[in-house]
Amino acid sequence: NTDILGENLGLLSVLSVVCLRSVFGQVSYSIPEEMSKGSLVGNIAQDLGLDVKRLKSGKARIYTGEGTEYIELNKERGALVIKERIDREALCGQTTPCALDFQIILENPMQFYSVTVEITDINDNSPGFKNSDMKFDISETVQIGSKFVLEKAVDDDVGINGLQSYSLSSSDIFILNPYRIGGSRNVEMVLKKTLDREKQDRVSLILTALDGGNPQLSGTIQIVITVLDANDNAPVCSPAEFKTNVKENSVKGTVLTTVSASDADEGPHGQVRYSISNAPKGSSELFDIDEDSGVFTLVGKLDYEKFRHYEIDVQASDAGGNADVCKVIIEVLDTNDNPPTINIMSTSSSISEDVKPGTVLTMMNVQDPDSNENGKVHCILDDHVHFKISSTSTNFFSIVTDSELDRERASEYNITVTCSDEGVPSLSSSVTLTLQISDVNDNEPLFERSSYEACIVENNTPGVSVFTVRATDADWNQNARVSYILEDSSVNGVPVSSYVSVSADSGVIHAVRSFDYEQIKDFQFRVKAQDGGSPPLSSNVTVKMLIQDQNDNPPQVLYPVQTGGSVVAEMVPRSADVGYLVTKVVAVDVDSGQNAWLSYKLQKATDRALFEVGSQNGEIRTIRQVSDKDAVKQRLSVIVEDNGQPSRSATIIVNVAVADSFPEVLSEFSDFPHDKEYNDNLTFYLVLALAVVSFLFITCLVVIISVKIYRWRQSRILYHSNLPVIPYYPPRYSDTLGTTGTLQHVYNYEVCRTTDSRKSDCKFGRAGSQNVLIMDPSCSGTMQPMQSEKTAMTINSLYCFDNKEPLSLDILIKALCNVGHIAPKCLVQISDGTQINDPYSTCHADKTKQKKSRSSRV
Ligand SMILES: *[C@@H]1O[C@H](CO)[C@@H](O)[C@H](O)[C@H]1NC(C)=O
Ligand SMILES: *[C@@H]1O[C@H](CO)[C@@H](O)[C@H](O)[C@H]1NC(C)=O
Repeated sequence: NTDILGENLGLLSVLSVVCLRSVFGQVSYSIPEEMSKGSLVGNIAQDLGLDVKRLKSGKARIYTGEGTEYIELNKERGALVIKERIDREALCGQTTPCALDFQIILENPMQFYSVTVEITDINDNSPGFKNSDMKFDISETVQIGSKFVLEKAVDDDVGINGLQSYSLSSSDIFILNPYRIGGSRNVEMVLKKTLDREKQDRVSLILTALDGGNPQLSGTIQIVITVLDANDNAPVCSPAEFKTNVKENSVKGTVLTTVSASDADEGPHGQVRYSISNAPKGSSELFDIDEDSGVFTLVGKLDYEKFRHYEIDVQASDAGGNADVCKVIIEVLDTNDNPPTINIMSTSSSISEDVKPGTVLTMMNVQDPDSNENGKVHCILDDHVHFKISSTSTNFFSIVTDSELDRERASEYNITVTCSDEGVPSLSSSVTLTLQISDVNDNEPLFERSSYEACIVENNTPGVSVFTVRATDADWNQNARVSYILEDSSVNGVPVSSYVSVSADSGVIHAVRSFDYEQIKDFQFRVKAQDGGSPPLSSNVTVKMLIQDQNDNPPQVLYPVQTGGSVVAEMVPRSADVGYLVTKVVAVDVDSGQNAWLSYKLQKATDRALFEVGSQNGEIRTIRQVSDKDAVKQRLSVIVEDNGQPSRSATIIVNVAVADSFPEVLSEFSDFPHDKEYNDNLTFYLVLALAVVSFLFITCLVVIISVKIYRWRQSRILYHSNLPVIPYYPPRYSDTLGTTGTLQHVYNYEVCRTTDSRKSDCKFGRAGSQNVLIMDPSCSGTMQPMQSEKTAMTINSLYCFDNKEPLSLDILIKALCNVGHIAPKCLVQISDGTQINDPYSTCHADKTKQKKSRSSRV
């Protein structure tokens, strides 16, 4: 402004118009404002027609009253000059014209003159606005033609230098509309084009106010327009479709996709909310979308096998209700989540053991709803020995037998079928079938042994059970029900069924009759075991029945012959020496073994000191010299006992005549009269009557006691020895050594071992004799009584009957003692390996004689 001002002043000083009025006492000047100090206003002396000297002498001065002295008087030059800078606007404001009035006062004489200095305006003020900017908030929906009043500018200058016009920085949105109210120039702007916040949310304009001065001055103000949003935009899905793949086994909460829609609006108008607007039936529970973020999640369980493709509409809407629909397309991917299912179409629970390999047992169908590899199925069996599985067509399988079956080996099979798919990892399921194998009668009954031997003691009660045969059959139920049948055969021309019978159910063999060992010693028959199958199978077995002896026969005296009436007497010459053999009592016993082992005893004698009886051989010999004093008639009563339990005996009366001649004998024996016989008879009857009574009593007593003792002994012998049981068979009576005057008994023993030998009724004799037994390997079991007493005895070994193994010596001795042949007095000498010659050869001799019957004898 100072530049402009300086310029103006320069111009004014040249072009200043001195308005010279020759009105007395009145001068007017016109000067522009803002002239510099000392600038000439007017040559007052000249204009007033005064001399400079007068000014000096008149002491001319300016009188302004109270007002500021802007102008001073230069008396030397007689001119008015600027004393203070004059600002018209400060001096007069908007008032025009603006003038300074003052007086010039002179003295000597007093004179005064009025001076008026008009101050003219120069353009020293630019238009201006009170604020630096203006702010407008305008909704984008405002209509074209809407007016907005703008702040008006102020210019202190007046006239042409004052505010003249406005202009707006280039804008195609608004135009200016200036108007006047009174003297003031106002301005407004008018919308000529719609606003769009989404394009331009802020408009910035410059309003310029201009004056008319030269040079022209201007002032500006910034107009800031904020475009307010209106909900004029709908959300837009981008992209329009959201495609995603998801595995069917995805867990709940899996994020599938994020739907997004954009809304150009702002604030609530631009806030998009998402919701599922349309979903296929059944899938609305499967998915969920977050209202704000658009995160699309899985909340249910997918199943590829039910739905593979979903198209879901998601509505995106803003607060104003504008909306768009976004599509979410979901492809479900298969996973191996289904195990195969096995359906048994047909199965046999039971099958006969004789079916051919390749028989179909089960048909089944296997399904796996998964696709591709996940749905391909193969099946295996756990038992691939007896069964196999084959595929008849896709997903159809059959189980067939692959080998022969045998119910007796396995009557039941649990066949487990496992089917697996080919997914990774593979899923499988299995089913177990129980197969029963039904029986076929393919096994015959089998006896427990290949042959049987049984013992029965003679005189048995008919119907007694002897022993039991047993056969087993591996088959089942009826096919294994064994019945026993006695097979027809004959024994000694009699059907075997009259000897024994077999219980069909139990296999118990009964004796049909009472056996007599003296008649039959053994016999054989066959028993057949037959099962209940159809047709039945059978097998048979041989049973050998051995009958054992009982001491049921008393000894029979063969010699001397007991004739009814006549009296036979042995003669003994009076000259006979000690040991003279008077006679020999010969007796036999039809029993065998111990039961037939006889011993002789002198029971009564007229003179006991004269005779003795050989206990083994029955020889009656004298034991002292016969004297003359001895009676002719000697009567000996000899008792013959067998060795059975209880023993049986026979008594014989031997009449001996001690005489040198027959007449002597006759005379003595002739008075064996008949009257005596009568007396004897009478006595006999009396005694008989008495005896019968006593006999009944004693018999009872004896029977009871002997049975008790017998049983006790039996059990002791049998249970306390390790011996095989030796029953006895009737003796073979032989008199081979008759010339020596002695009798020799040869006993043959047969061995019978029953299944329960200890309880059989086998008996052992117990002799009071001191015979020596010689056992020899070559003829073991043959016992030979020897004459010589207390002979030392050597035992090499004893072969135990059928098993041909030596018995230990202590068992042997125990055996001999038990049997009774080695009585307490018996002397046993054992020397290993040494043989006694004599008994050995004797034994051999015996052996040859017995060859015939050897097969059945040991
Ligand atoms: C077969 O399975 C059944 C029941 O599980 C069982 O009682 C039977 O002993 C099984 N049989 C075989 C031969 O394993
Ligand atoms: C007894 O069995 C044998 C085979 O062990 C057989 O050969 C025989 O024929 C059978 N006898 C009968 C009478 O069935």
